[in-house]
Amino acid sequence: MNDNKILPLTRDVTWIGVLDRDIVTFDVVMETKFGTTYNSYFINAGKKAVIETVKERFWDVYRGKLSKLTDPATIDYIVMNHTEPDHSGCVAKLLEIAPKAKVVGSGNAIRYLKDLLGFEFPHLIIKDGQTLDLGNKSLKFIGAPNLHWPDSIMTYLAEDKILFTCDIFGEHFCNEAMFDDAVPDFSDAFRYYFDVIMKPYSRFMLQAIERMSPLDIHMIAPGHGMILRKDWKKWVDVTVKYSGEYLMNPNRNKVFLAYVSAYHNTGLIAEKIAEGIRSAGSIDVDLCDIENMDLSLIDQKLVQSSGIMIGCPTFSQNILLPVYQVFAMINPIRDRGKLAAVFGSYGWSGEGAKIMSSALTNLKLNVMDEGLMIKFTPHADTLKRCFDYGRTYGERFLSL
Ligand code: FEO
Repeated sequence: MNDNKILPLTRDVTWIGVLDRDIVTFDVVMETKFGTTYNSYFINAGKKAVIETVKERFWDVYRGKLSKLTDPATIDYIVMNHTEPDHSGCVAKLLEIAPKAKVVGSGNAIRYLKDLLGFEFPHLIIKDGQTLDLGNKSLKFIGAPNLHWPDSIMTYLAEDKILFTCDIFGEHFCNEAMFDDAVPDFSDAFRYYFDVIMKPYSRFMLQAIERMSPLDIHMIAPGHGMILRKDWKKWVDVTVKYSGEYLMNPNRNKVFLAYVSAYHNTGLIAEKIAEGIRSAGSIDVDLCDIENMDLSLIDQKLVQSSGIMIGCPTFSQNILLPVYQVFAMINPIRDRGKLAAVFGSYGWSGEGAKIMSSALTNLKLNVMDEGLMIKFTPHADTLKRCFDYGRTYGERFLSL
């Protein structure tokens, strides 16, 4: 493809995004084996608008595309549905050549962008349901918070019946044809993107889809990947399905009891605590030695549980790597308020409980207390303490 190519969606709306074929990972966390695109759109209305920009390193190509369509100095609005730098990377440079443009976004978007850019800029903060008159066309803004940042919105161009959704309904897939009906199957990329970026926010996704349901949509124009003009509903429906499957959990009666154990002392404590929890009532305790557990399985178990207990021996005044990995997978938006507790064996000073309970508190879990630490090997009397600790946890869990 000629990298300077622009692509009309309708008579007045043009894709001016860029292709990134060579990207290997995105946001550190995602493989991008199909490459990606950064989509931006120009709306040629009475008042001219740009929907998002692209990554900063593509500025020269991006500017060239935009300049084919208009003198950038005539742009009135730069709509930012979301401000992560893959979308906001060219805003600063665009403002230099579009001095009369106002940046339009949610309150969070404008705040984030000020921090990202480091300077003040003309802006317009919009709210869910608000419209913006472009003269012969109008934009309507649909709040879509936490998809996947708190700043996220969607923008609907009523006259052309296009919904601009940024990361929502996007995927990392690069094909110069750009339209869903003109490219090979990209459903794997779509699923992968949902799983890694959107899945934890499934509840918000369903709310956003509900909010867009009254709109008469002909096309969905996302911020990454293919423009959905042939069968946008199929991709919305599949997103509803994925979100629903995810939200069938967590199981209200399930506790994920994850531990690592060097000499099975913490393992013994875990088993006794599990007995205590079960004795409190109908609670499904998922007792797991996570030392060699696949991270995706740990993530699944975190999702499926309404309670989380973590056990680890104190090792050289610290805790062990697999437990830090669990912390890295806890999502405070998703897991906030789940009842948590910590335990473990120690030999010298037992710092593990404090390290773990502090981490879980910082991750917004409801940490029951300072935790249960047992010196070296649990014997009959201390095993009774473990059972009682589990029982106390179980009773608290059932009371919530
Ligand atoms: Fe495509 Fe959240 O940035």
